[in-house]
Amino acid sequence: MTGFGGQFETEAVAGALPKGRNSPQRPSYGLYAEQLSGSAFTAPRHENRRSWLYRMRPTADHRPFEPFGGARLFSAASGEAPLAPNRLRWDPLNDLPDGTDFVDGMATMLATRDPAELIGVNVHIYRATRSMDRRVFANADGEMLVIPQEGEIELFTEMGRLRVAPGWIALVPRGVRFRVMLGGGVARGYVAENFGSPFRLPELGPIGSNGLANARDFETPVASYEDRDEPFELVQKSLGHLWTTHLDHSPLDVVAWHGNYVPWRYELARFNTIGTVSFDHPDPSIFTVLTSPSETPGRANADFVIFPPRWMVGEDTFRPPWFHRNVMSEAMGLIHGDYDAKAEGFRPGGLSLHNIMSGHGPDVESWRKASGAELKPVKIEGTMAFMVETCWPYRPTSYALEHAQPDYDQAWADFPKAKMP
Ligand SMILES: [Fe+2]
Repeated sequence: MTGFGGQFETEAVAGALPKGRNSPQRPSYGLYAEQLSGSAFTAPRHENRRSWLYRMRPTADHRPFEPFGGARLFSAASGEAPLAPNRLRWDPLNDLPDGTDFVDGMATMLATRDPAELIGVNVHIYRATRSMDRRVFANADGEMLVIPQEGEIELFTEMGRLRVAPGWIALVPRGVRFRVMLGGGVARGYVAENFGSPFRLPELGPIGSNGLANARDFETPVASYEDRDEPFELVQKSLGHLWTTHLDHSPLDVVAWHGNYVPWRYELARFNTIGTVSFDHPDPSIFTVLTSPSETPGRANADFVIFPPRWMVGEDTFRPPWFHRNVMSEAMGLIHGDYDAKAEGFRPGGLSLHNIMSGHGPDVESWRKASGAELKPVKIEGTMAFMVETCWPYRPTSYALEHAQPDYDQAWADFPKAKMP
C-alpha cells in the first residue's frame, strides 16, 4: 500500500477487519482488538499516529521480562567519560560475532540521549548470518530506521512483511514486534534508532508541492500473520537495556489492521534530488529524506540525509561538500560506491563521525582534484552515502572507540598554505 502518513486498512482473512468501528463487542473469529498508539492520544490530528490491530492473542499475554544475555554490543549507554572532540572514522567492522541474528549481531556505535527522555538518536551497525528463528524483537525506546548495506532482508512485522535490499530503507515503528529473515549469506547494514518524534517528510518550502522523497513512493505491507503454537522468545529493548520473555506462540498473529502507525520501506533511487543549477551548493539539508523535529523550530532531533547519484553543474563552484563546522553532529555511512568528499578511507559499511563544531570537509586529495577540475557538467554515479544528523552530540560507545581508525585526522593534513600578497 503506497503513501506516507496515510490511513491504511488491510485484512489477511476476509471479514477480519471490523467495519465502521474499532472495538466491536465480539470481533470476527474471536480476534482481539488492540490499539497501538505512536503519539499521545491528544496529539493534534496531523501529528496523531495510531493503528488498530486484530490479533489471535492479546499482546498483554506474556510472562515477566528478565534481563537478556545476548547482543552484548547493543546498548544505549552513552557513558560519562570526557569525550575528546576528535573526528572519528571506522572501517567496516570485521569482528562482529558470527552465527548471529539481527539482534545478537547489533553493535551500538554512537549514542546521544537517554531513551527515557524521549529525544535523541543512536546509530548502530548490524551484521547477521542467520534469520531470527522463533525470536521476535520490539523496541520500546524508539523507531528503527533500517539501512541495509549488504544482503537483502525481510522484516516480518506485526503489520506484514517487507523485503528490504541494499538501496532501500525501512522503518519499524516504536513498539512494533518484528523478526528479521535473511535470504542467505550475510546481511549487514546500519540502524538509526530514533527516540524522538517519529520521522516524517521534511517541509518543502519554496521547492513546492513535489520533490525530495515523494509520499507516494513509501510502501506499507498488507496484513500477513503466522499461526504458530510453539515456543517464541520476545526480546524487548526498554530504557536502554534488553529484556526477554517467552511466549507459547508467535506474536506475529495480527490478521487485520487499520491506521496510520505503520512500518514502511522506501527505495532511495526514488529520491528526487535537487541542487544548484547556477553556483554554490545548497546546504546538505537539501538532501533530507526524513526528519524528526525537536521542540526547537528547524533544529532536528534527527535528519536522515542521502548523497545519491546526481549531476554537478555549478559554475565557478567548489563542487564537493565544502569545509565547515556545524552545531549539529553528523554521522555518515556509505552503502556503496565512493563519497565525493573522501578520496579514500571511507569504505562501504564504514562510518564517520563529525561531532558538534568539528572542522571537516574534503580531504586533501578530493580538494586538490575538485579545485583543479574542469567545470563541465559531471554526473556522480554509482554511490549512495547517508548521514544521520542530530542536534545532540554523539558519544561513541567504548566498542566504537576501540575500533576507530587511528589516523583519520591525516585526511586533513598537508593542505598547502594560502599565498598572501
Ligand atoms: Fe558535514
